[in-house]
Amino acid sequence: MDDDLIMPGLHPLLATRWSPATFDPAHEVEAAQAELLVEAARWAPSAGNSQPWAFIVGRRGDDTHRRLVRHLAASSGRWAPSAGILVANLAHRYVEGTDWEYSEFAQYDLGQAVAHMTIQAQALGLSARQFRAFDRDALAAEFDVPGHWEVTTMSAFGRGPARENPEPARERRPIGELLWTDSQAAQKTVHSP
Ligand SMILES: Cc1cc2nc3c(=O)[nH]c(=O)nc-3n(C[C@H](O)[C@H](O)[C@H](O)COP(=O)(O)O)c2cc1C
Repeated sequence: MDDDLIMPGLHPLLATRWSPATFDPAHEVEAAQAELLVEAARWAPSAGNSQPWAFIVGRRGDDTHRRLVRHLAASSGRWAPSAGILVANLAHRYVEGTDWEYSEFAQYDLGQAVAHMTIQAQALGLSARQFRAFDRDALAAEFDVPGHWEVTTMSAFGRGPARENPEPARERRPIGELLWTDSQAAQKTVHSP
């Protein structure tokens, strides 16, 4: 099988998901849909059920959206504002007032919650693109995010272009590279003399 072909049998929500870099500026995400995305995150698994996540959700046209857009980088500023909603994804990193980790899996769990959001979006007919291209510190200051929380990533959700020609093109490492074997481990081990 060609490395970039998707294996038959992969669930359509996973097989058809991709991250567009353009969104329809006329399309609106309904408030109920935005709420469902957060509901999808709410039901994600997390270490010890610690649920170390929070989300700042702005719908295009509202004040939160305007405040989020202010802190986009030049690159994301070209496409993210036209998505129906922008979400800042926050991880609960530390116990307040200490340098103790709230959970050693906080970022792992946040990522998993965001993955749930993207698949729920796909089920709603919405596309998602997660991104790092924004000013984390400025966004944290804008929304008074305290030091024990981390503004980790953002996501844009909206109506993307037709699926036939994903842009940018989607590429993946072959499945054989993902499966860790003893021989791969031996190759990757750095032997000292
Ligand atoms: C944590 C994270 C950070 C990302 N940051 C950016 C970004 O700053 N700008 C961007 O255009 N895409 C960003 N992406 C999107 C990835 O480039 C995209 O998911 C990847 O190329 C795979 O494409 P696909 O989602 O269409 O399969 C990010 C994705 C993740 C998960």
